[in-house]
Amino acid sequence: MTIKVAVPKETAPGERRVALVPSVVKQLDKLGVETLIQAGAGETSGFDDADYEGAKVVGSAEELYAAADIVLRVQPPTVEDAGKLKEGSILLGFLSPHEGDSRIKNFLKRRITSFSMELVPRITRAQSIDALSSQASISGYKCALLAASRCSRLFPMLTTAAGTIRPAKVLVIGAGVAGLQAIATAKRLGAIVEAYDVRSATKEQVESLGGKFVETGVKAEGEGGYARELTAEEKKQQAEVLADHIAAADAVITTAAIPGKPAPKIIETATVERMKRGAVIIDMAAETGGNCELTKAGEDVEHKGVTVVGPKNIPSTAATHASEMYSRNLYNLLALLVKDGELNVDFDDQVIADSCLTHDGEVRHGPTRERLQGGNK
Ligand code: NAI
Repeated sequence: MTIKVAVPKETAPGERRVALVPSVVKQLDKLGVETLIQAGAGETSGFDDADYEGAKVVGSAEELYAAADIVLRVQPPTVEDAGKLKEGSILLGFLSPHEGDSRIKNFLKRRITSFSMELVPRITRAQSIDALSSQASISGYKCALLAASRCSRLFPMLTTAAGTIRPAKVLVIGAGVAGLQAIATAKRLGAIVEAYDVRSATKEQVESLGGKFVETGVKAEGEGGYARELTAEEKKQQAEVLADHIAAADAVITTAAIPGKPAPKIIETATVERMKRGAVIIDMAAETGGNCELTKAGEDVEHKGVTVVGPKNIPSTAATHASEMYSRNLYNLLALLVKDGELNVDFDDQVIADSCLTHDGEVRHGPTRERLQGGNK
């Protein structure tokens, strides 16, 4: 029987992306699988059903899940949708392994082999599968545009008959994938850019993009290329140095995150009160609690003349390109799982082993297993 790869329409509020774009259908064809797509799945990302040449369009999610051997998604399924997955089937997508225990328990009950894009290891061989990076670069770009459009000052220097306008000062906090893209974009828009990260390796990267690195004396490299949580002493030292740079900035873009933990609070209300009127903070970490004390996810907060923007699901605002990149990430992972039309889940492959959340009724991801055993919700 030919393996059926199925793509439902995303149901999470505000989600515009789709897990498969038409150009990847041909590649799936070459893998020897049959592709099913739910009617209207690509609509919000700019693709009509007719664009999915070679794929079978299926009317309802129920019908799709019942037939699917492999399901590709963007957002994690709801608990209810997880219950519709065919027993023993495979699921690929952002699965939020750090939360949603009822959903994960449903995966176990139905013996779903689930691969979570958040767990793909940050190794060179897996770069083409790294959806956190592909989506983060979109977020970084969009945050710089948001900053430019919401700031009361222009980014570039302008020499006009009405006088000269000085370039805006932009500070980017957190120079990971998104932060570096934000720096590059703000630079291209003509701003003077400063940036800071707790990982010292980022200094050179910031400088190579024409940004000035802010030295706070705090270094906190953690495991797997990520940052670790700071101690109270380190937080205080960081806050003191950064406060002066934040106060001088016209726009601050914050992207600091610790995987699986709430975002570190880096900007206190008192520091916001030192900022200029008309300045903005774009808090990319809004959905995980925010890097600024005032941030509210999905809202703009006005505080003493400063606007704190807490955007949600930024990649979805560039749904066409975000879906194209994400779809290729999924395809590259799928190509490790399917060879010549046959399923081959090889747990000796680090990419497969690390990315797998559940398999055959067991949780394979250590921290998730410990949490579920602890019975925490
Ligand atoms: P992320 O989204 O987890 O965090 C964003 C940034 O915030 C990181 O650079 C982190 O160091 C920084 N941060 C955390 N706490 C902070 C604090 N208190 N103050 C200031 N900054 C803070 O990170 P992302 O962008 O997903 O990746 C982190 C790094 O992983 C990359 O920059 C890279 O070095 C590595 N990586 C490696 C890849 C590979 O080799 N295939 C692919 C992608 C990333």
